Amino acid sequence: TTTPPPSNEPTLEYAPGSPERRSIQQKLRELRQQEIEIPAYINGQAVKTGTTTRVAPPHDHQHTLGHVHQSGAQEVEQAIDAAMSAKKEWAAMDFSDRAAIFLRMADLIAGRYRDTLNAATMLGQSKNAYQAEIDAACELIDFLRFNVHYAEQIYRDQPNNAAGMWNQMQYRPLEGFVFAVTPFNFTAIQGNLPTAPAILGNTVLWKPATRSIYSAYFLNEIFEEAGLPPGVINMLPADDGAKVGTPALESEHFAGLHFTGSMQTFDHLWQTIGENLKTYKTYPTIVGETGGKDFIVAHETANPKQIATAIVRGSFEYQGQKCSAASRLYLPESLWPEIEEAMTSQLDEITVGPPEDFTNFVNAVIDERAFDEITGYIEDAREDESAEIIYGGTYDKSEGYFIDPTVIKVTDPKQRTMQEEIFGPVTTVYVYADEDFEDVLELVDETSPYALTGSIFAKDRSVVKKALDRLEQSAGNFYINDKPTGSIVGQQPFGGARKSGTNDKAGSPLNLLRWVSPRSVKETF
Ligand code: SER
Repeated sequence: TTTPPPSNEPTLEYAPGSPERRSIQQKLRELRQQEIEIPAYINGQAVKTGTTTRVAPPHDHQHTLGHVHQSGAQEVEQAIDAAMSAKKEWAAMDFSDRAAIFLRMADLIAGRYRDTLNAATMLGQSKNAYQAEIDAACELIDFLRFNVHYAEQIYRDQPNNAAGMWNQMQYRPLEGFVFAVTPFNFTAIQGNLPTAPAILGNTVLWKPATRSIYSAYFLNEIFEEAGLPPGVINMLPADDGAKVGTPALESEHFAGLHFTGSMQTFDHLWQTIGENLKTYKTYPTIVGETGGKDFIVAHETANPKQIATAIVRGSFEYQGQKCSAASRLYLPESLWPEIEEAMTSQLDEITVGPPEDFTNFVNAVIDERAFDEITGYIEDAREDESAEIIYGGTYDKSEGYFIDPTVIKVTDPKQRTMQEEIFGPVTTVYVYADEDFEDVLELVDETSPYALTGSIFAKDRSVVKKALDRLEQSAGNFYINDKPTGSIVGQQPFGGARKSGTNDKAGSPLNLLRWVSPRSVKETF
């Protein structure tokens, strides 16, 4: 018998006056008063390289949370040695012993470290308490528990036997180390990418985004506290990712890449792997999730209020910095006035500011570079005759990188903001004549190179079917009458194809199978 599937971790509400709100507020104050030093972490040891950069909250950039030590080729070399020597024992360990470490990790996050990891995500990534809770607590806990469960199923899946023989499948880890490169926008993904391969006996070099290094630091402490042996996951921070990436991908022991980040970086890493192919002992596994240009398309039979809510939540939660964020909206002329009214009245209720004030729905974008890029799109639209800013369009970086929720309306459905991933609180509306619905489905499919998430809003079932058929390749996560964000582990396995990635569905058996190299053994009697 296998252990029963886990249930999803319930979310805490952080209601005013609740014990969880008081407790996290206390933790936020505590963390703000400290300045921490964030070393690299190799073979169970903190490694201080001496070259540091400052870590600040995006919503209060003059405040210092800590300093992060920058890794380079020398640390990569040490980490590869550590990963390769830890590997033998780690891979040979009984699965139940490895599993216990990750289940303990999940319980530590659910209990003793919940406030710490959530507060670190709020401060370091400027995420409000509710968005931190569904990410750093619930989704990460789910990733760990579900991955253990799915790994157990993989190990138990054995081939048939006939008389006179015994067939076995041995699910070996990859021959070499896995390189995990994690993004700033989800603490859960930051935790999942190094741990998923490790559950199956791999050892890992982990390069966290330095833009979220603050929560990565606490995550690494939790890994250690849970009893992860030295060398299994080695953390190598670097503002300039190539300083770690290049030497890691030039190693003969490189066996797999577990990546979430931009399409440009993934393309670059893939090319580097191609150039080094002759160096490797084995063809590496490449798993990557990149960006999205996620759509909402509504039909005239849809409910306008439901659409407005989906737009506001789908486009602006976590400042639109989700690869799944809605950012191009195709709305029918007959519903547009009602949608606009409902959307505007919801947006009027939103306040923008630091996450320590729990009433703020929108917080700061991650850093100055992001702020400049996003506001560049807004200014471009202001200059463009085919575009009109119909909501927001204002911003201020004096204290934090704040951009107000911005809605752009275009007459050209291929205007730049309909095509390119902006990764900020900016969403673009194209209003179409109701009778052009089928042409709009064509437009949805051909306007972007990405294919991550998308939503169809319609009451008419035949329309839903038409959209599912015509948009078959346009999204890896497709939503009917719902916003295109907020997938839940075990419920909506997440990932997209085309230029959105390899679609290996994080937190699912499909993903875990990429981290094993099965050996088929036949014995005759
Ligand atoms: N899984 C997240 C979502 O669905 C994005 O990474 O929003």
